[in-house]
Amino acid sequence: MCKGLFSVPQAAISPFGRRPVRNCMKLRAFKRSDLAALHRIDQSCFPPGISYSARELDRFVSHAKSQTWVAEDGAGIAGFLILAQEPQKVGHIVTIDVIESQRRSGVGTMLMDAAETWAARKGLRLIYLETADDNRPAQAFYAARGYAKVDEVANYYPNGQTAWVMVKWL
Ligand SMILES: CC(C)(COP(=O)(O)OP(=O)(O)OC[C@H]1O[C@@H](n2cnc3c(N)ncnc32)[C@H](O)[C@@H]1OP(=O)(O)O)[C@@H](O)C(=O)NCCC(=O)NCCS
Repeated sequence: MCKGLFSVPQAAISPFGRRPVRNCMKLRAFKRSDLAALHRIDQSCFPPGISYSARELDRFVSHAKSQTWVAEDGAGIAGFLILAQEPQKVGHIVTIDVIESQRRSGVGTMLMDAAETWAARKGLRLIYLETADDNRPAQAFYAARGYAKVDEVANYYPNGQTAWVMVKWL
């Protein structure tokens, strides 16, 4: 039995049984002791030039206007999301990272649901994000949640890649 805020048994997330239910995925708030694990996950999720340095990640999670949710089950941290609150009632998804072995099992959905629910409660009007122009899985993930591409920014990433800017009105 899962306990706690945002606890969702995977069977409830995935009624069509894409993955056998073994564990209970929970969301919890970030703790300082997570930082090294989150950095390892970010390095595994993104290529050099897009992934964050440990220092950058620390700056994002420590910012007074940011919120970080961590998804965890018995096997460890499966993913995390950082949302920054910006002026004009705007939310910015700094990153969402799900480890490869846990993808397509609803972890990203849990994280985004939590962030959007928090943003709506705070009275934010929209959430935006950037994603690499060749990151088709992320583009499909966001589009399925109602995010629309509104812009492209050339040379957005330190490796020179173009970013899509996607927005969802809350
Ligand atoms: C993008 C990402 C966060 C999605 O997380 P996830 O836990 O796999 O997503 P979910 O299982 O909740 O997927 C929800 C829906 O999004 C869409 N989706 C997710 N991954 C997809 C993919 N690879 N291809 C097409 N659609 C996809 C589907 O509609 C999916 O529903 P379905 O599985 O019932 O078809 C994950 O792939 C990831 O961490 N990638 C590496 C890091 C990254 O690119 N982050 C985003 C850029 S900032």
